[in-house]
This record gives sequence, C-alpha cells and structure tokens, in this order.
Amino acid sequence: MTDERARGIPVLVLLIPAALGAFGMAVLFARALFEIPVTASFFQTYPGMSQPWPGTPVGFPAWLSWTHFLNAFLMLFVVRSGLLIRSKRRPPAFVTRRAAGARRLGLHAWWHIVVDVLWALNGAVYLVLLVISGQWKRLIPADWDVIPNAVSAGLQYLAFEWPEHDGWVHYNALQLLMYGFTVFVAGPLAVVAGVRLSPIWPLRWSRPRGVLSDAFARAAHWWIAVYLIAFTVLHVTLVLTTGVLRNLNHMYAGRDDDTWIGAGVFAVSIVVSLVAFVLLGPRVQTRLAELARNDVRRMPPA
Ligand code: HEM
Ligand code: HEM
Repeated sequence: MTDERARGIPVLVLLIPAALGAFGMAVLFARALFEIPVTASFFQTYPGMSQPWPGTPVGFPAWLSWTHFLNAFLMLFVVRSGLLIRSKRRPPAFVTRRAAGARRLGLHAWWHIVVDVLWALNGAVYLVLLVISGQWKRLIPADWDVIPNAVSAGLQYLAFEWPEHDGWVHYNALQLLMYGFTVFVAGPLAVVAGVRLSPIWPLRWSRPRGVLSDAFARAAHWWIAVYLIAFTVLHVTLVLTTGVLRNLNHMYAGRDDDTWIGAGVFAVSIVVSLVAFVLLGPRVQTRLAELARNDVRRMPPA
C-alpha cells in the first residue's frame, strides 16, 4: 500500500462517523420541524405538490419507458468507458479512423464516443417526443410554488416521512425539479462539454484559457458526470423504497397498480443489461473497431 493511501485510512475512519452523525442530526432537525407549530404550518400550506399545467397528461406511454430503459442501459457503457479514460491506464488497443488528419484514440475513448452517440440520439428522440406529446408538462414547473413545495418535500424525505407521491398523475415538486434539471440541463450540458473534448471539435475554436479551454471542458464534463451518477444512486434508492411495485409498474409496465408485472420486466431488463455489460468488453470493442474499418493497433498484454 502506498504511503498516501495508508494516510487516507485514518481520515476515512473519522469522516464516516462524522458524516453519519451529521446525517442523523439533519434527520432529527427535519423531524423537529414537523412538531414545532410555526414550522408545522409550513407543511400544511406547502404539502410538496406544485400547481400543475392545465391539460397535463396522465400515465406513462410506451416510448417513455423504452427511452428511459435505453438511457440507463447506455449509461452503463458511457460511465464505464468514461471512468476508464479517467483512470489513465494504458488502453488495450489504439484506434485511428482511415481519414486524413484523423487523431489516434485509445480504445476507451473510441468506445466512449460510440456509446455517447447512441446515448445522445436516444436522448434527442425522448426530448422530441416529450415536446410533441405534452409530457414535458410533467417535468417543467408551472408556478413558483414549486420552490417552497420542493423544500417541503425535501424535508419530508429527510425526516423519513415519505411525501405524498402519485407519479402516475404528477411528480412531487422535488421530483419535478430534479427530473427537469437532469433532462433539460445536465444531459445537454454533458453533450456540449463532451463534444468540445472530442476530435470533431475544430482546433481553431479552442482557447488556452476560459470556457473554450480543454481544462474547463474537462472539469465541467467531470462534474456533470458526478452529478448524473449521484442523481442515479439517489433516484434508484427512492424508487426502491417509496412503493417499489407501483413505481416499477409505472415505468416498466405502463400500469398504476401493485402487481408484480413491472418488477418482472425490470428484473429482465437488469439481466439483459448485465449480460450485455459482460459481453461488450474490451475484446469485442476492439473487434467492432476493426469491423468499422478503422486502423486498430492492439497492445501486447502488460
Ligand atoms: C435502472 C435503474 C432505474 C430505475 C429502476 C428507474 C425507475 C424510475 C421510475 C419508477 C420512474 C417513475 C417514478 C414515479 O412513478 O414516481 C422514473 C422516472 C425517471 N427516471 Fe428513472 N430509473 C432508473 C434509472 C434512471 C437513470 C440512469 C436516469 C438518468 C440519469 C433516470 C432518470 C429518470 C427521469 C428523468 C425520470 C422522469 C421521466 C419522465 O417522466 O419523463 N432514471 N425512473
Ligand atoms: C454525447 C455525450 C458525451 C460525449 C461526446 C463525451 C465525450 C467525452 C470525451 C471526448 C472524453 C475524453 C476527454 C479527455 O480528453 O480527457 C470524455 C471523458 C469522460 N466522460 Fe464523456 N462524453 C459524453 C457523455 C458523458 C456522460 C453522460 C458521462 C457520465 C455520466 C461521461 C463521463 C465521462 C468521464 C467520467 C470522462 C473522463 C473524464 C476525465 O478524464 O476527467 N461522458 N467524454
């Protein structure tokens, strides 16, 4: 173990109990707010649901379930290849397009871009259908009352008093803000920062410093990735703890009841994702790079 890692351990031993302690205090604080009359009335005025748009659609159409599944599926590959780029380990192969002036890419960077294109296309289809169908009304607030209601819903989650949530009809204010931000801000920003870092960005549009610099784009891309991963962890935790059968029926079976159908479809989607994750490893990626008529140079095993 390196010295640096050895020194890291006592810090963790302190940090983990400190973080748990702080979390415990926050939970107690949130619970107290429900007891004190002045603050308790806030939750009556703002129960956690924002005023919806007139004509907000009800339920989950099949295209929404499919694009939601493909998003999670593709993100497995996007995140794995992104973290491998960041690890700076030597890639098992290098890929160069057969075109004048093409840049040589490590296998992980090449694969990251391949899955990014699919991920961004799926996102674009989802965005267009959101607009056409009116489903965007479920993700964009109609009224400023979304702010106090989101604070209220957040405190209710923190107090482990699950706020009223009827995702079939409308999301609570905190879900609405988080989903809307993820779909309309974080996703598109990941694409913009990613395109800036990719070989298709013309060199003459780059600058040594400022928003057009490599350093800025890399930092922005990294923090958006951190946000998306943290969002996913929290999102899936809440889906599983706040009425899992009904939630999974909404997204995976297009129905609003407590049967096991959605859970079954979800289980199949997990198996499909895991099998694909194992099959589409570096060897298959290298083969795909060759089949796509690139010049591929394999490195001898380290
Ligand atoms: C495989 C793990 C996942 C599961 C089980 C899951 C489950 C769900 C469920 C059940 C809903 C509907 C919530 C409700 O009815 O209250 C939902 C909505 C949503 N999820 Fe996920 N999700 C997963 C992964 C992801 C990922 C990776 C993202 C994005 C990074 C994401 C983004 C969203 C968004 C934006 C919505 C709202 C969609 C809309 O109504 O247009 N989910 N998810
Ligand atoms: C269209 C979408 C995207 C494009 C075009 C793209 C492109 C790129 C490129 C070109 C790099 C290499 C950067 C470098 O030179 O160091 C990179 C790195 C990376 N990407 Fe993406 N990306 C996209 C989406 C995403 C998403 C959605 C995530 C995760 C949720 C992600 C996670 C990462 C990570 C973790 C790295 C390594 C960052 C580092 O070295 O600090 N990317 N991406």
